[in-house]
Amino acid sequence: MDYGLTGKTVLVTASSKGLGYASAKLFAQEGANVMLSSRSEEALEQAASQIVKETGNQNVAYCAADVSLVSDIERLFDTVESRFGGVDVLINNAGGPPAGNFDSIAEEQWAKAFELSLMSVVRCTKRVLPHMRQNQWGRIVNFASSSIKQPIDNLILSNTFRTGVAGLAKSLAIELAPDNILVNTLGPGRIATQRVASLDAIQSQKTGLSIDEVRRKSEAQIPMGRYGVPDEFAQMAVFLGSSANGYITGQSILVDGGLVRSL
Ligand SMILES: NC(=O)c1ccc[n+]([C@@H]2O[C@H](COP(=O)([O-])OP(=O)(O)OC[C@H]3O[C@@H](n4cnc5c(N)ncnc54)[C@H](OP(=O)(O)O)[C@@H]3O)[C@@H](O)[C@H]2O)c1
Repeated sequence: MDYGLTGKTVLVTASSKGLGYASAKLFAQEGANVMLSSRSEEALEQAASQIVKETGNQNVAYCAADVSLVSDIERLFDTVESRFGGVDVLINNAGGPPAGNFDSIAEEQWAKAFELSLMSVVRCTKRVLPHMRQNQWGRIVNFASSSIKQPIDNLILSNTFRTGVAGLAKSLAIELAPDNILVNTLGPGRIATQRVASLDAIQSQKTGLSIDEVRRKSEAQIPMGRYGVPDEFAQMAVFLGSSANGYITGQSILVDGGLVRSL
């Protein structure tokens, strides 16, 4: 399949590891100019050099930025624009909010999760629109969670703000379709990354089960019978964020091995 990504500029936030990293690598493999970002400069340096080594694409750069901070987002966009020009494909990703239920989450954690999970998407999207509108072409893919379709136990912050992202994306898809800017939201469910490993460790502490037992119990709930691998998720991100996708917009799509039972 021709993704039509050669020469396009892709910004993947939160991409030093996990789903962001796997997606950035696949975009680089397809010939895009790729800007990586996360909070740790050291992790980014390693991630960028690994992607250059594996894909042979030299147009891979990075900029350390915390997407929950306005000033970091501004600096990130100044950097990508001066290196590659305007962003054609925006992948809105961030670290997950802390685990907890209604009684355990403190007031200030709500405000932090709002900035991290929802306002980061608002701010990054605002920044890409002038360039996308000028070109009459753009793709925005938000990484959220399977919680956009079904709440996850002990993850009330995700359950609250990810559905906000899906609602925002649906509205944006309608507003931006006349400019050929397509907006979609992906919900990963149990893709084996450090985030899932740390949630399994929390569950292990809560239940007294070993981490392996927690994982086996969790895999037993997934029709595919296993955790996904980041590349299986990244394939969908790259498709939605490419010219190969010409007519899918406003959708919330799960990559979850069949975990969520709703239609
Ligand atoms: N994996 C799954 O099955 C799954 C399921 C549901 C939801 N999700 C969500 O999908 C997103 C990606 O998950 P993942 O599994 O890839 O997690 P991961 O392996 O833990 O990677 C998280 C990435 O986010 C970066 N990051 C964290 N906080 C950041 C911030 N404030 N600003 C910028 N970058 C930040 C991290 O790098 P630094 O530490 O260098 O900043 C890292 O590159 C998360 O929001 C997660 O909650 C994942």
